Amino acid sequence: MSGVAVVVGASGGIGGALVEGLLGDERISTVVALARSFGSSVAGRLARGPIDVTDEASVAAAAERLPGLPSLVIVATGGLFEPEKTYRALDPAAMLRSYALNTVGPALVAKHLLPRMAPGRAVFAALSARVGSIGDNRAGGWHSYRASKAALNMIVRNLAIEVARKSPELICVALHPGTVDTALSRPFQRGVAEGKLFTPAFAAARLLAVIDGLQPAQSGCQVAWDGVVVPP
Ligand SMILES: NC(=O)c1ccc[n+]([C@@H]2O[C@H](COP(=O)([O-])OP(=O)(O)OC[C@H]3O[C@@H](n4cnc5c(N)ncnc54)[C@H](OP(=O)(O)O)[C@@H]3O)[C@@H](O)[C@H]2O)c1
Repeated sequence: MSGVAVVVGASGGIGGALVEGLLGDERISTVVALARSFGSSVAGRLARGPIDVTDEASVAAAAERLPGLPSLVIVATGGLFEPEKTYRALDPAAMLRSYALNTVGPALVAKHLLPRMAPGRAVFAALSARVGSIGDNRAGGWHSYRASKAALNMIVRNLAIEVARKSPELICVALHPGTVDTALSRPFQRGVAEGKLFTPAFAAARLLAVIDGLQPAQSGCQVAWDGVVVPP
């Protein structure tokens, strides 16, 4: 990738590591790092700014402030609030909170940033999760999180179909980062097998390598940290 790269959710474990990884890539002229807690500032190749992905006006304002047309947008926001073990635990407000952040948030970023992406090869990527795969779901549980990520994967597929008509080199993907040692996964790390808990730096490096190698035929898919497409 080259030119302007945008990371939404740059205060997060994986988002922060993606910013570091992109700053280490000399092909990237400016890294735009957006997060709820950030003010606007510029230091060298790093431009920081505020965004709340659940507030459309905030997403639109962040899009207006972009310093150029990005060839890469990565949405690294997300949350796992309600790891329901059974349907008996379903709570409508909690379900909607997951959907607002994990599905509507990236969709709003797409709505306001896709029209501003650079012509030619460009990538719009949203961090999803393998547990959002319907075909891969054998364990059950985590209803709200799984459903919100499955819906995100559908939004990404729709984006891919729609943009391909006018911009065949604009690739839209969902990405599975693996299990990564961040605030999000910390309460759930006990069952993770030895060697399967990635550092944010490792996950970010893998995801950036996957993004570099993406082909237009993979647009609309969920691609994992190892480059393998996750079943829908
Ligand atoms: N860690 C894993 O094992 C794992 C596995 C599979 C998928 N993922 C996915 O990877 C993504 C990143 O997760 P992570 O592990 O890096 O988690 P994290 O460290 O908890 O980061 C989550 C990020 O989302 C941001 N965020 C939350 N609500 C927001 C809002 N309304 N507007 C803007 N930003 C908001 C947080 O910002 P604040 O700092 O302001 O709260 C933070 O930057 C998520 O989509 C997650 O589902 C993670």
